Amino acid sequence: MDRRPEYDLAEIRAEIPLLRSRLPMNNCSQAPLFKGVRDGAMAFLESWEHDGMDWEGWVAEVEAARHTFADLIGAEPDEVSVASSVSQATASLASALSFEAPRNKIVLSDAEFPSVGQIWSAQRARGAHLDWAGITDGAVDMEALEKAVDSKTALVSITHGAYQTGSLQDVARVAKWARASGAISFVDAYQTLGNRRVLVRDLGIDVLVGGCLKYLLGTAGIAFMYVRRDLAERLEPTSTGWFGRANPFAFDPKVLDWGAGARRFDTGTPPLLPAYIARAGMELVRSVGLEKIERWNRTLTNRMILGGITRGLRLEGPRDPDHRTPVAAFHAPQAAMMEAALRERGILASARGSVLRLAPHFYNSLEDVDEALDALVEVLSPAT
Ligand SMILES: Cc1ncc(COP(=O)(O)O)c(C=O)c1O
Repeated sequence: MDRRPEYDLAEIRAEIPLLRSRLPMNNCSQAPLFKGVRDGAMAFLESWEHDGMDWEGWVAEVEAARHTFADLIGAEPDEVSVASSVSQATASLASALSFEAPRNKIVLSDAEFPSVGQIWSAQRARGAHLDWAGITDGAVDMEALEKAVDSKTALVSITHGAYQTGSLQDVARVAKWARASGAISFVDAYQTLGNRRVLVRDLGIDVLVGGCLKYLLGTAGIAFMYVRRDLAERLEPTSTGWFGRANPFAFDPKVLDWGAGARRFDTGTPPLLPAYIARAGMELVRSVGLEKIERWNRTLTNRMILGGITRGLRLEGPRDPDHRTPVAAFHAPQAAMMEAALRERGILASARGSVLRLAPHFYNSLEDVDEALDALVEVLSPAT
């Protein structure tokens, strides 16, 4: 096992002021602030303060963020929509779909992030029938999912990395089943973007959604949705806005034309400050290199799993690092209290229900993993 990443860890750690006082292991929830990302935010604030108004420049930055995201996932900029959250992007897509019988089924799983499952559930009012696959050992029951996809399926929704357990779903396989049945494949990649290569063409998926505040080092207020160009151009969302038009600055409320490709899913005034932050975060990830990040994260994950099991912690989800994101979810009664107890020790973790999630990223060291595991064992001891 490599003891070091293929980049200068000390140099990267020096970019994170938070490391002086805290040990962030909560990337599945919120990445720490890098100096370069702070500079991104400041660029917008300085422009606002000194120029008063620079819509051309600000909207150009949103475009730059769209291009950077497209590049990250191996897509064209016209295949990417800029939204304020994954929920908003998903709802815009849903508004463009028809759930008329006989093709009225949505296949999804219990591992969906709540918003996504809820938006698909809301489509029942528009004629959709939902077929849910369960979770087995922390991962989506792929057999049940495959069985549910048939000629009545309009869309198959799958989470790439499950937010509760970190289990990684084989979304390429799911896309293949969807394609063979004439259904749309929809992938929520929030928990994988930034910690591995996620290339939409290699995966053969139709739609991908994701935001920036986890492994892409940004904050809330912006999300992106990839829609394969030829699919996007067949869709007309009823949830729309002036930025979804061919020319947003035409200012004609009676004209409903469509922006090129996935741009038609844009809605109102775009998220300006989050776009500056998002681009800075994505550029940072890109400058380190996703392949290098992926390899070091695999080492950290391995250490976390083996170290957790050796210390007697109960891991939820698959053990094989090839089948999981950097998140390690350990069974923890009163997980929220455990999160608070770790915070008191300076360690940032993330509780969900009865699991405590530790999620390192490329700037973490093997010592960080050991320190977090030792602390978790300590705080769990009185309660178990
Ligand atoms: C898998 C996944 N999807 C979606 C979201 C967030 O969605 P939204 O941008 O609508 O808040 C999260 C955030 O925790 C997530 O982990």
